[in-house]
Amino acid sequence: MLVLGIETSCDETAAAVVADGRVVLSDVVASQILVHAEFGGVVPEVASRQHVATIVPVIRGALEAAKVSWADLDGIAVTSGPGLVGALLVGVETGKALGLALGKPVVGVNHLAGHLAAVFLEDPSLPAPPPWPHLALLVSGGHTALIRADPDGRFRLLGSTRDDAAGEAFDKVGKMLGLGYPGGVQIDRLAAQGSAAAYALPRALPGRDDIDFSFSGLKTAAATLLAGRSSPPQGAELADFAASVQAAIVDVLVRKSRRALAREGLGHLVVCGGVAANRGLRAAMAAAAAEDGFRLYIPPIRRCTDNASMIAAAGTSALRRGERASLELAVDPGMPL
Ligand code: KG4
Ligand code: ZN
Repeated sequence: MLVLGIETSCDETAAAVVADGRVVLSDVVASQILVHAEFGGVVPEVASRQHVATIVPVIRGALEAAKVSWADLDGIAVTSGPGLVGALLVGVETGKALGLALGKPVVGVNHLAGHLAAVFLEDPSLPAPPPWPHLALLVSGGHTALIRADPDGRFRLLGSTRDDAAGEAFDKVGKMLGLGYPGGVQIDRLAAQGSAAAYALPRALPGRDDIDFSFSGLKTAAATLLAGRSSPPQGAELADFAASVQAAIVDVLVRKSRRALAREGLGHLVVCGGVAANRGLRAAMAAAAAEDGFRLYIPPIRRCTDNASMIAAAGTSALRRGERASLELAVDPGMPL
């Protein structure tokens, strides 16, 4: 079963062809990072216009790279929410137009379900997919959530952030440090050379039974530390600051995941979403897995950040269940999981 995935929910225009929901034949991502970096963050109107200009060449590129023709496709899966409304519209209208013109079934995919499906794509680093039930930590620019995935395909939200998402915390502190957009990637790079013990930063909501998150206090603490200095940190000090911020975020993500695994009696943890690309988080989760004896599944870095192969994977399951979107398929910017 060959499915074309289309993803335009934020600032990546992406298309991919996936066989049987598992084998990635092509995976094209046109990042808009350089366009938005000038503004220090994603500008929704600019994102929509970039998607319009890029979507057709990106889809053509995905078919060419996969060496398949339009006629070979069995269906089209497109992200219909959550995300930026104008950005989502470009993908959804393109997907519906292609479905109509080619006479192929179309399904709308929840972007978050896409992130959760990335771990089912074949990769040497993931010799086997996780069994059900399992726990998933979804950490991205817009979401931070602990989710229980049950054998019937249902997701149950166990805990989530009360304010900022983990990726948002990385990006906001990155901006304060003058690191440009997206800050998460820069903090990851700098943290590798710094000392995490250099600056004392808060770990929110440590209460015993809590599996919710909060990152606004960390942001305020970082701003206060920076405001108390005569000049912004540079060189080794900047690396120490980045390492301390990263550790504060990672500590909480690991602690709450362990607590949720224990509470739910689960032995398999999936970590996904853009922040799962963070090397500090990957290492800390691996250490926790070795210590506690749970199995860890993290997609390769290029499938943690936004891409369309994960949308094709989630869409294949939906198509197999017989789901079909009509031409009325609409975008839902606030779509829950
Ligand atoms: O999943 P994603 O690509 O888009 C959303 O659905 O939000 O996640 C983007 C987020 C951004 O906040 C970005 O800073 C963060 O993921 N991110 C990272 C790293 N790579 C991406 N954060 C920390 N370390 C990284 N290496
Ligand atoms: Zn995402």
